Amino acid sequence: MRPREIRPRVYWVGAIDWDRRLFDALIPLPDGTSYNSYLIKGSEKTALIDSVDPTMQDVLINHLSQLEVESVDYVVANHAEQDHSGAIPRVLEKYPQAKVIATPRCKGVLADLLMIPEERFITVNDKETILLGGRTLEFIHAPWVHWPETMLTYLREDKILFPCDLFGSHLATTDLYVTDEGQVYEAAKRYYAEIMMPFQTNIQKNLEKIKDYAIDIIAPSHGPLYDRPEFILKAYHSWVFDEPKNIVVLPYISMHGSTRKMVEYLVEALAQRDVTVQQFDLAATDIGKLALALVDAATIVIGTPTVLAGPHPNTAYAAFLANVLRPKLKFVSIIGSYGWGGRTVEQLAGMLPNLKVELLSPVLIKGSPREADFKALDNLAKTIARKHKEHNFI
Ligand code: FEO
Repeated sequence: MRPREIRPRVYWVGAIDWDRRLFDALIPLPDGTSYNSYLIKGSEKTALIDSVDPTMQDVLINHLSQLEVESVDYVVANHAEQDHSGAIPRVLEKYPQAKVIATPRCKGVLADLLMIPEERFITVNDKETILLGGRTLEFIHAPWVHWPETMLTYLREDKILFPCDLFGSHLATTDLYVTDEGQVYEAAKRYYAEIMMPFQTNIQKNLEKIKDYAIDIIAPSHGPLYDRPEFILKAYHSWVFDEPKNIVVLPYISMHGSTRKMVEYLVEALAQRDVTVQQFDLAATDIGKLALALVDAATIVIGTPTVLAGPHPNTAYAAFLANVLRPKLKFVSIIGSYGWGGRTVEQLAGMLPNLKVELLSPVLIKGSPREADFKALDNLAKTIARKHKEHNFI
C-alpha cells in the first residue's frame, strides 16, 4: 500500500496488519487491524501524527521515503501505547531534529516505555496550538480514552480530527474511508466494548468537549477514516449516553448437559416474553462478541456448573471481564447445576463489585433440572421481563 492523500499535503502513511489475530495478547482481531499514521506538510514545518506498531516500522519509514520527506519537525504522540508510539524512536533516529509533542503525562509514559530522552520532547497544554505554516495543529487533552495521558489533535484549516484510539475500529481494509457503514459499525462497536467502555464517563465528557468543533473528517489510528463523522459520533453518543436495551446476555458453560438444558429453557422463556437474548457458549465463543453484546444489555445471566466447589473457571473469566468492562448492566442472575455443593453464587456474585446491578433470584439446582427447577426459571424470566418493562428498556 502506498501513502494516500487525504487533503493537499496531508497524507495517510500508516500500516495495515491483515494477519494479526490477537491484540494485547488478549483481544481477538477477526478482521486484522491498521495503525494509521498521518503526515502533514505545512509551508514551514512538517508533522507526523502518531506512528505505527514497531513490528511495522519499516512500512512507515518507507512511506516517508516515497513522499520524499527530508525533514520531520514534530512527531505528535496522541497516545503512548506502543501500537502508535512504538516506531517513534526509529523516526527520531531518521530525523534528528524532530521533537515529540505530547501531554506532560504522555511524556513521562513515553520516557518510561521507549526511553526517549528528555530533550526530544515538547509538552503541550490543553488547547495549545503549533503552527506549521498555513496550517495549525490544536491539541485537545482527552484523558482516559483509554489511558490517562491521551489527547486528540485537530487540524484547523482542514477540519480534520485525529483522535488516535477514540472512534477507531480493528479492521484491515484497503478503503481509506468507510464504505460499508454496517461492517464498520460492528467493528467500531466491538472496539468500543473492548477498549473504551470502562471509560464511559470520560468519553461522555470528551464528546461534550469536541461538540463545537467543525469536523469534516475523523481520522482515527485504527480502521478506516470517517468522511461522514456524524455516523461514528452518533454511534458513540448512543453507546455512552443511552439507557440499556431490553437484552439479556447469557454466557454459559455446560460440562455434562444439565446447565445447557437450563440455559435453553430460560432463553425460550425470555423469548416468549419478548426479551432479546444473546447466548454465548464460553467453551467456544469469541470473547470480543461477548464484550460487544454487553454494550447494550440490561441484564447478564451467567450459566455455570459447579467445579471444585465454585464456578467453572470460564464463567469466572466472563464475570471478571464483565466487571472490568463496566457495561451499563442493571441486573444479574446466575443459573446452573451442581453435583453435591459449593459456593458458586457467592463467588460469582462477589466478582462483580464494579457493576451497579441488582441480583435477581439465582437458580442453582442439584443434578438434572426437574419440573420445580423449570418453574424457577420461568419465574426468573418473568422477573427479568417485568424489570425491563418497568425501566422502559426497549
Ligand atoms: Fe491503539 Fe491504546 O492503542
